[in-house]
Amino acid sequence: MASLNDIRSTFLDFFAKNGHRVVDSSPLVPRNDPTLMFTNSGMVQFKNLFTGTEHRDYTRATTAQKCVRAGGKHNDLDNVGYTARHHTFFEMLGNFSFGDYFKEEAIPFAWELLTQGFGLDPKRLLVTVYHTDDDAAVLWKKVAGLSDDKIIRIPTNDNFWMMGPTGPCGPCTEIFYDHGPSIWGGPPGSAEEDGDRYIEIWNNVFMQFEQFEDGSRRELEAKSIDTGMGLERIGALLQGKHDNYDTDLMRSLIEASAHATSNDPDGPGKVHHRVIADHLRSTSFLIADGVMPSNEGRGYVLRRIMRRAMRHAHMLGAQDPVMYRLVPALVRQMGAAYPELTRAQSLIEETLKLEETRFRQTLDRGLRLLDDELARIPEGADLPGGAAFKLYDTYGFPLDLTQDALREMGRAVDVAGFEAAMDEQRAKARASWSGSGEAKDAKIWFELAEAGGVTEFLGYDTETAEGVIQALVRDGAEIGAAATGETVQIVVNQTPFYAESGGQVGDAGYVRTDTGLAHVTDTRKAAGVFIHVATVTEGSIAKGQPAKLEVDHHRRGMIRANHSATHLLNEALRRALGDHVAQRGSLNAPDRLRFDFAHNAALSPADLATVEAEVNGFIRQNGAVETRIMTPDDARALGAQALFGEKYGDEVRVVSMGSLDGSGKGNDGKTYSIELCGGTHVGRLGEIGAFVLLGDSASSAGVRRVEALTGQAALDHLRGQGAILAEVAATLKASVTEAAERVKVLFDERRALQNEVAQLRRELAMGGGGKGVEAKEINGVKLIAQVLTGVSGKDLPALIDEMKTRLGSGAVVLIADTGAKPAVAAGVTADLTGRISAVTLVKAAAEAMGGKGGGGRPDMAQAGGADIGLADAAIKAAEAVLEG
Ligand code: ALA
Repeated sequence: MASLNDIRSTFLDFFAKNGHRVVDSSPLVPRNDPTLMFTNSGMVQFKNLFTGTEHRDYTRATTAQKCVRAGGKHNDLDNVGYTARHHTFFEMLGNFSFGDYFKEEAIPFAWELLTQGFGLDPKRLLVTVYHTDDDAAVLWKKVAGLSDDKIIRIPTNDNFWMMGPTGPCGPCTEIFYDHGPSIWGGPPGSAEEDGDRYIEIWNNVFMQFEQFEDGSRRELEAKSIDTGMGLERIGALLQGKHDNYDTDLMRSLIEASAHATSNDPDGPGKVHHRVIADHLRSTSFLIADGVMPSNEGRGYVLRRIMRRAMRHAHMLGAQDPVMYRLVPALVRQMGAAYPELTRAQSLIEETLKLEETRFRQTLDRGLRLLDDELARIPEGADLPGGAAFKLYDTYGFPLDLTQDALREMGRAVDVAGFEAAMDEQRAKARASWSGSGEAKDAKIWFELAEAGGVTEFLGYDTETAEGVIQALVRDGAEIGAAATGETVQIVVNQTPFYAESGGQVGDAGYVRTDTGLAHVTDTRKAAGVFIHVATVTEGSIAKGQPAKLEVDHHRRGMIRANHSATHLLNEALRRALGDHVAQRGSLNAPDRLRFDFAHNAALSPADLATVEAEVNGFIRQNGAVETRIMTPDDARALGAQALFGEKYGDEVRVVSMGSLDGSGKGNDGKTYSIELCGGTHVGRLGEIGAFVLLGDSASSAGVRRVEALTGQAALDHLRGQGAILAEVAATLKASVTEAAERVKVLFDERRALQNEVAQLRRELAMGGGGKGVEAKEINGVKLIAQVLTGVSGKDLPALIDEMKTRLGSGAVVLIADTGAKPAVAAGVTADLTGRISAVTLVKAAAEAMGGKGGGGRPDMAQAGGADIGLADAAIKAAEAVLEG
């Protein structure tokens, strides 16, 4: 029996042999569609190739595309588990021609693969065509030899395929399989078509028009092909089953569920196993594609699917979380075809475990409340909306979970009442909203969040995406459009732009619409709404337009490198200086990073060198950066560094990097850095390139600040330093390696010369050439009083000492002719200080020169004069002091 994996390969190989490029499935979160919640068919990733706005180096492609139909327009969630062919996750096999072949080849391809590749009995096959599509009818007759009653013309939109209200579209032909008269049902188009006898297995769309918003259509220049075949359906058929859940792949997941809950796979819990098997696939693939459970948008759809599965596990009697234990079975089945599943295995397991652990805390109580409420209302009546809202708000029961629980009892929820309760809560929130931070007064952001929902951030996984412009805001008010030269704040439903937070600056880049281009210079957020601050540089942009959003890749790359380096730096500092090192602030800009932390002393050069080398060591180790979601308590138990005093929600994002055992992969107890962080990071540490610490400084009391550079900026800095050093060496006429020694020698020489000059000056001052200075004797005291040129005030004390030594006993008065204000100093040898004070002498001399004050000790005093022209008078005044 061919497994689903074999069937997928047979399909892809067949088209590869026929010149098709095998293209990987695109992610479940569409990158190129602004409104689609999840990728729901194979053509989504090729949308722009059909309309001719994009070209690739192939014109034929084939894919196995992951699809999710839950939430949004296509929502199969409610039926899963109860029917044979509904899934929230399925794989769509497809072949595509972009202006290459058309019907004439598509129909023979389909027929050949079904009848020869898959070996289906041609007699069991029949087709539908659009009622006006004679070409297709003729081709089927010619290629497959089908009789007219097996080529059914359908006049409805069932045979005219459109991806949405706008975009590429065209008539289609659907291929059906007849299970024979033993099963009830009629051929397509008949009154009994909903029966299970005739099953559609493949849709071939002949893309030949593009539809516009006003309903008009243009004919596409290049006619194209888009086909879609559900793998689970064709699998069931080829494996002789009537139910998709009986195929090998689904069966192995059902058995894993039965095993994990110690249940019979086909017993009374059958529906629960089917729900679990289906939801395990959709949740795991969504998490692998970057969707995380939340209370908004895609994250909420994921949460609804997860919780629905968890209630079914609960009904199987499971006491502990179950879903995460089934992930290995899924990875065994599908990991080879979808390597992203294998890569994300631990993330999927942890996310499921966390969600289930938390939900179990309220599930029991919620179900009890539900029972109590039901007991209170008449038999068969709808559950009041208020009760459903309480289950939602207090116990975390998504509405469809409550509906699912009631469905088993044949009951429903008063949905209008539920919505009224929801509106009331919103109104209360609106009334109490006070805003925060910079956007305190900007109530408009709250109103926008309420009207259009918070902005969905896609930027962990992509730097380009499409969104719809939900609002344009200027000066706190909405405007309809903005033209070239105008600055405006743009709000979109989803964005890859990171909004400033946690020290990481907001992204810059471009927002492009059909009519204009805006340059985004910064991104901020308020009330969950991302605010793209932009200037329109071409044409104009308007509210309601779809827009292509493009983050400045180069700039974001540098920010990422700096942010990841900051985590490594934090840990390196902690290890070098001690556990008291706690983050006090940080900045992750494109050109540099800054990190403030609690520490009292300056870092020694040795500390700086150790920290820098350690960070560079982990960069070279090039380990993967891992991101997980967990409760704040679990994160702390893991040793995650959190910001002190910061409030964290129920779930936190935990970023781990670097391995202490050198394997490049973090694992418990061996991970180098673990931090709570909502920022964007490099994929592998090697992307940081290089790390240079620029030194540290004091930021405030007890807080040090270090700045650092990474990547090209670090290398540029080192090169700049090298150039300066080379210039110094050239000036010194030395090599770079000798430069430091040469400077030391120059400094020693300079010091020796300075000493020599000082000595010479002193000698010169004292008469020079060893000539003695003449002393006058007054009242038995020897006095030297002299005007000196070429010396400064600060040279005087040493000269006074010298003179005193020479005199043996006496007084000295020296006046320095400095060119500006003269300085005076006086000295008295120790034997005479009882009789004469140097202070008296210096004051008398200074006053005679127009100076004031003066001070010191009896043996040495200094003062300043005003006019050197009065030096003689000063000497006379000093003599007068001795004369008494
Ligand atoms: N795009 C077509 C479908 O989804 C093939 O049915």
